[in-house]
Amino acid sequence: MPSLVNMEVELAVKGFLIDQEKMVEVVERMTKELKMGLAKDTHPRAVIKCFVTYVQDLPTGKERGKYLALDLGGTNFRVLLVTLLSQTDIHITSKSYEFPSTLMTGTGKALFDFLAECLAEFCKENAVENDNLPLGFTFSFPLQQQGLSKGILVAWTKGFNCEGVVGKNVVQLLQEAIERRGDIRINTVAVLNDTVGTLMSCAFNHPNCRIGLIVGTGSNACYVEKTVNAECFEGYQTSPKPSMVINCEWGAFGDNGVLEFVRTTYDKVVDKVTPNPGKQTFEKCISGMYMGELVRLVVVEMIGRGAMFVGDSSQRIQQRWSFKSSYISDIESDGPGEYRSCNKVLHELGIIGSQEADKEALRFICEAVSSRSAKLCACGLVTIINKMNINEVVIGIDGSVYRYHPKYHDMLQFHMRKLLKPGVKFELVVSEDGSGRGAALVAATAVQSKPKM
Ligand code: BGC
Repeated sequence: MPSLVNMEVELAVKGFLIDQEKMVEVVERMTKELKMGLAKDTHPRAVIKCFVTYVQDLPTGKERGKYLALDLGGTNFRVLLVTLLSQTDIHITSKSYEFPSTLMTGTGKALFDFLAECLAEFCKENAVENDNLPLGFTFSFPLQQQGLSKGILVAWTKGFNCEGVVGKNVVQLLQEAIERRGDIRINTVAVLNDTVGTLMSCAFNHPNCRIGLIVGTGSNACYVEKTVNAECFEGYQTSPKPSMVINCEWGAFGDNGVLEFVRTTYDKVVDKVTPNPGKQTFEKCISGMYMGELVRLVVVEMIGRGAMFVGDSSQRIQQRWSFKSSYISDIESDGPGEYRSCNKVLHELGIIGSQEADKEALRFICEAVSSRSAKLCACGLVTIINKMNINEVVIGIDGSVYRYHPKYHDMLQFHMRKLLKPGVKFELVVSEDGSGRGAALVAATAVQSKPKM
């Protein structure tokens, strides 16, 4: 324990420190919930929904062609044109569109009109507006899929809350918005979760990839299950295909109260100020949308008690969501006794001239929040690997937390090793462009399997 950190701060973060015993308990509880999501009779009341994705084929490496992709669900909205030329030659043109935050809580019509507008602009810029290209729609929210190109939105997450979309088929909403414009010809052939895109993209180069994980604004994982176990798939006993990708939607784990033993008072405060209180409990302990706010709440409490930043007044840190999760990655990037990135963060927050002890305390709080995130994520992955009952697996991962936090990969690996049965081998691989390449690969599957239907 760093000597510069005072007792008050140590006490405040205590709740974030989960030991091995608690992690084993998380795995146990999560295993139960995962099984409930998969089984037909318990699915309706399960919190980890384990949605069937209708993706039954992993890439062969032989997929070719030109596809459009839309990516909605993180901090940016993107449109992509993906050309699969060979296994090593994939051409991607993409454009990110600034996503007005008012759209996140406006009407569904405004949202889909905006998506169609960006898509039209992009298609015209790339001269493909009349090509009737197949489109893969990466829509990273819980969808109850009824086919590869039909998905009913179950709930919004990650701060989105657009009216009139829950309960609707989002592919139809997109297609209608495209048709309202009438200036482009597009064929939406698949809708997919970002975890599935991540899995597919990674599997294109790593044939042993069986899990896709996102630790970014939100958090979730998907994995390859035996079709016979995917009981919510109508053809689970008759399908000729042995596998089915399952979108766990693990973010909702704990919504029934089983995670209270790893939650803190700070988690409860964060939860209350989100548009979806009581929902996405596991995600709110793990993902980038919430980590910064958790740190901020601890810091503000410490300031209030005179335990940190005494004499430094900052208005900014008192504002909700002002502490970005990327600050945690920055602060933890500094070497021991170094505060270069930390100083930058403090400067941005308007905290000037703080003591070394304050900076140590801040780092200590960041570490407490990020290591709990990595531990819980490790629990989730171990739950899935145990369920799959395999001895070797590659896990494709994307998301800003995993990518930019300097120790996340190592922490994840360390805790997984401690939790997994001896002899189980795994590899954590950054997956490149799941929502582009991955979406194109799913769209390719859809196009190829069409004539047989
Ligand atoms: C959504 C998931 C998504 C995850 C990562 C969660 O909030 O419910 O569908 O995969 O975020 O983007």
